Amino acid sequence: MLKPRKHADIALLRINYLRGPNIWTYRPVLEVWLDLGGLEDFPTNLLPGFNDRLVTLLPALLEHTCGVGEPGGFLERLHEGTWTGHVLEHVVIELLNLADMPTGFGQTRSTSRPGVYRMVFRARDEQVARTALAQGHRLLMAAINAEPYGAADVARAIEEIRTKVDDCYLGPSTACIVAAATERRIPHIRLNDGNLVQLGYGASQRRIWTAETDMTSAIAEGIAHDKDLTKSLLATCGVPVPEGEIVSSAEAAWEAAQEIGLPVVVKPTDGNHGRGVSLDLNNQKDVEDAFLLAEPEGSDVMVERFVRGHEHRLLVVGGRVVAAARGETAWVTGDGTSTVVELVDAQLNTDPRRGNDEGCPLGRIETCEDGAIVLDLQRQGLSPQAVPAAGREVLIQRNGNVSIDCTDEVHPEVDHIVSLAARVVGLDIAGIDVVAQDISRPLHEQGGAVVEVNAGPGLLMHLKPAAGAPRPVGRAICDHLFPDTPEHAKKDGSQQVPVGRIPLVGIAGSQGSQHIARLVAWLLHLSGRHAGLACDDGLFLDQRCIDSASSAHWEAGQRLLMNRSVQAAVFENGAESILRDGLAYDCCQVGVVTDLGGASGLAEFDITEEAQMYRVLRAQVDAVLPGGAAVLNATPADLAAMQTLCDGEVIFYSTDPTAAALAAHRENNGRALYLRQDQIVLATGATEAFLPGLGKLMAWRGRNQRGEMSEATLLAATGAAWALGIPLNLIGAGIEAFGPLEKTMAGAL
Ligand SMILES: Nc1ncnc2c1ncn2[C@@H]1O[C@H](COP(=O)(O)OP(=O)(O)O)[C@@H](O)[C@H]1O
Ligand SMILES: [Mg+2]
Repeated sequence: MLKPRKHADIALLRINYLRGPNIWTYRPVLEVWLDLGGLEDFPTNLLPGFNDRLVTLLPALLEHTCGVGEPGGFLERLHEGTWTGHVLEHVVIELLNLADMPTGFGQTRSTSRPGVYRMVFRARDEQVARTALAQGHRLLMAAINAEPYGAADVARAIEEIRTKVDDCYLGPSTACIVAAATERRIPHIRLNDGNLVQLGYGASQRRIWTAETDMTSAIAEGIAHDKDLTKSLLATCGVPVPEGEIVSSAEAAWEAAQEIGLPVVVKPTDGNHGRGVSLDLNNQKDVEDAFLLAEPEGSDVMVERFVRGHEHRLLVVGGRVVAAARGETAWVTGDGTSTVVELVDAQLNTDPRRGNDEGCPLGRIETCEDGAIVLDLQRQGLSPQAVPAAGREVLIQRNGNVSIDCTDEVHPEVDHIVSLAARVVGLDIAGIDVVAQDISRPLHEQGGAVVEVNAGPGLLMHLKPAAGAPRPVGRAICDHLFPDTPEHAKKDGSQQVPVGRIPLVGIAGSQGSQHIARLVAWLLHLSGRHAGLACDDGLFLDQRCIDSASSAHWEAGQRLLMNRSVQAAVFENGAESILRDGLAYDCCQVGVVTDLGGASGLAEFDITEEAQMYRVLRAQVDAVLPGGAAVLNATPADLAAMQTLCDGEVIFYSTDPTAAALAAHRENNGRALYLRQDQIVLATGATEAFLPGLGKLMAWRGRNQRGEMSEATLLAATGAAWALGIPLNLIGAGIEAFGPLEKTMAGAL
């Protein structure tokens, strides 16, 4: 056989993380500029054996659709010959799929330089995407050069990506809430490397931190951390709880146990995950041993009545039970030769639900390290190293195995009691631990009780139950934060703003965009809203300068969206910033495009002529919400075509009342702005009216001596304000009163 020729590595020239809507798609992507070098002359059909080697390593590539649109499409492309840059895209996407971070979107396009390609793929997290790219690159080169690289290497690559997902991406509970928000088209911004996430923008945002929200009271959380205090508050309100007391020594624990009546439980007052909890204690030695086990785990130790029954976890969100799960006790059966530790590893730890990483609903059982297990074994006359007789059933764990869904079984009375418990403690989201024989019967009938109330409860047991249906708890939490009721869908001027959003205006193009941005922000400010502005002049809040550095870019835009006092925001979007970072927001109410100029200076992005600008600036129109509007200059012929991209309304403007696109749009009853008799005309279909409050533009021109603002700019800003529903006479008067921005820094005051 011919020895395959050795090809030099595909060079990764530049990697851009596009964090917002961009020229490829409206979602974040990693954009990679790559140089195939010599491989430019070797599409896949000219690389002997490559296709087979690749598909052996990643069999699921057979399912990839690619342009052809059906499974097998990509394979067809491999056979007929496709460039290796395109193959890299599919390899990376497949590795992400295998690492449980499915991506779906990818594209590879040639550039004006031979052999240089731009490859992009959807990337929810930059670090994860970069890792997947590096691993995919290695795999691909190995397959091209027939280097030793096998299934074990693929598994290692996937593991590397998974580790990155664990390190960098949201934990599973947070991810499910964010996913539910995304489904409702509520945007999110991560506020730290962990699980603190903002849902929604500006003043309409809510925050979550794992399963806590900005409505979770700190006092309530403090109460929930103290089991004794929680129980006393619950008891006051008639919620059944096991009686008990706090003790400070082993002797006192035994005394308390006798008072309460055997059997009892000994546990720390502020522990979690069942650490230091000993159940069903029947004699002095067990109680005293249990005290010693519980003492180091928390600040105090409590003894309480042992409630017979199964362990249950009920999740209450916004006063309603939204999910319930039941626990199982964990047992092993002796075989006469294996130790308890070996039996646990063979019979319990092999359960795929068990593991120590975040995605596992149940933890691994560490027989020797878990004091409660060792004590329970002792009570059965065993130790971790003992060898139980063949067929003997040994109890390993009594609690901590909650994962059988029982949401539909919960009795209305139990529902009422646990909702009450959450309310009494004061938590908007609570995990209530209930011990009961049968959750489908009222608690008082069976002596059941609430044993603990948890703030920030884990959600995994409801998302990945061992048996029964997963429950949409993320959706429940999201709906709790953003009720979708008619009263809540707040009115903003005449403009309906979707839940979690504030009115956003984006301006793209090379003519006067910063003046448009400033004037629109000024008009929003006059209409009584705390308006943010990110433009080339700086970053402003309510006309106050926060940062005087040029702010027509992604980072500055994010600062406005994160600001909880911002009720509306205006962004100047330079073409370069769209190419480098994408838009700062996922969607906006109003998107303005003034012209298709600005191609010069973008050679770095392989843009040299005006015709290419359409693709860049359209991102601004693609991002317009269905209830929003694109405000487009009708004069440049190519620009008007953007109207077909808009999910919302289109408003055309032109200094020339006879512009073709304008006339056609009015024929269709569309809105338009133009100049006549030296005044601004607002037209809806055939109906026309002068903008009130402004009068002839002669006076405005006089004030605008430096000629900073052109008439087209004035029309664009007026159009945006009209689209936002700002009252017309306020727009007119506002334009009259508009002066130069003070750039004094707030900090200097
Ligand atoms: N008084 C009790 N009677 C019966 N079982 C109990 C009692 N207290 C705790 N348990 C069991 O132990 C588990 C852990 O106790 P809990 O108080 O919830 O501690 P943690 O904070 O560690 O979760 C409970 O879910 C329940 O199954
Ligand atoms: Mg508990």
